[in-house]
Amino acid sequence: MKRGEGGEGAAALVAQLRDARRARIEVARARPAAPEPAARPRRQSFDFATLPGYRELQMTEAAGALLGVDSPFFHVCEGPGAPVAMIDGAERINFGSYDYLGLNRHPDVLRAAREAVDRYGVSCSASRVVGGERPFHRALERALADLYETEDAVVMVSGHATNVTTIGALVGPGDLIICDELIHNSALEGGRISGAKRINCPHNDLDWLERTLESLRAQYRRVLIVVEGLYSMDGDAPDLRRLVEIKNAFDAWLMVDEAHGLGVLGETGRGIAEAQGVDPRGVELWMGTLSKTLAAAGGYICGSAPLIAYLKARAPGFVFSVGLAAPLAAAAEAALAAMRAEPERVARLRENGRRLRDALRAHGLDTGLSQGFAVTPVVLGDSPTTAATAHLAFLKGVAAPPILHPAVPERRARLRLFVTSEHSAAQIDRAAAVVAEAVREAPAITRRLTGG
Ligand SMILES: Cc1ncc(COP(=O)(O)O)c(C=O)c1O
Repeated sequence: MKRGEGGEGAAALVAQLRDARRARIEVARARPAAPEPAARPRRQSFDFATLPGYRELQMTEAAGALLGVDSPFFHVCEGPGAPVAMIDGAERINFGSYDYLGLNRHPDVLRAAREAVDRYGVSCSASRVVGGERPFHRALERALADLYETEDAVVMVSGHATNVTTIGALVGPGDLIICDELIHNSALEGGRISGAKRINCPHNDLDWLERTLESLRAQYRRVLIVVEGLYSMDGDAPDLRRLVEIKNAFDAWLMVDEAHGLGVLGETGRGIAEAQGVDPRGVELWMGTLSKTLAAAGGYICGSAPLIAYLKARAPGFVFSVGLAAPLAAAAEAALAAMRAEPERVARLRENGRRLRDALRAHGLDTGLSQGFAVTPVVLGDSPTTAATAHLAFLKGVAAPPILHPAVPERRARLRLFVTSEHSAAQIDRAAAVVAEAVREAPAITRRLTGG
């Protein structure tokens, strides 16, 4: 069926959509009914339904229902987010999980987590400041500092909170933050609470960055430049060597968020510095998460000893928050060791990343800025068509989650695929064909269902 055509294929898919909706309704019916809210006088102070964001949510759900598209979010995944995962009751090829090197089921990682639970329990039960250090915290921090060749490192309980609290603690009024316009929300939130002046750099436009620093640098006490090692929505990398030159020339700090770079970029997965042959000691702040390649949850900052000592004393997200749990710290340390001991995983991921991007392109799809590493978008344009496309691909056995406005600009809504070292070539090729089919069929389905 060609793009825009209806026909029998569309009729079959409409029927499939209806069956799927019916099945979901039955699943919902089987769940215990939510208790009726107790009758109470309407008071604004408890009426969260009046929040503008809640209204928007309802409108989105209503629009989805009109198109016959269930919410593409919060599918139930039973078991790990493996290349083939049991999602909403059926096996689907999964591109929604960022277990980039497949370490979430690595025997060493599982053993380390189990042993840590047996020895330390599940929770640290207090912040490290008052509850005390545990050996596994320092062991993980030493391993991370060693990776980036920095003097020290600190780990925190969430990657998102690590960015928020670190940026919030480092700069303030009188300072300037320049973020790449595609930077993750966590860095934006950190900038917002810091009170510093914030400006966005057009994506990867280092000429603009240089010109802007030339004209503005003198007006600010400190300047922090924040970029990602591999952009999480677009799958491309900045020019790190030039960034280091610019921040040196203008006496600024450079923070590189390696959430999607670690395990992905560089011959042995050490990230963008290794990939581009740049000395990692030239960057003031290496930030990353434990939740992707390292198969755990949490965040880290690697840098100089004074930086780390300062954050451990002054970053509220560290000082006033519980220490990283033993199984997570132990799993992350074991995953890092596995990454370093098994570079063949990194090589397989590199091959798979390239294969997926090239296969999608061969089907005529727009993969945006993707450089063919672990993250590749299929840029589709408007949010409704993107949601419908994701829904169709899902019904056909491929989980390729949509990223909709406002996470990306409305005209840049997309499917975003995370590929791992553990996907097979056949799974990748099949997924690319299924996504292409869904892209062709979605407009006809949405038109038919809306009577358009
Ligand atoms: C670039 C980037 N930084 C930070 C985070 C936050 O990390 P976490 O999900 O581990 O809290 C994410 C999350 O996906 C991310 O993509």
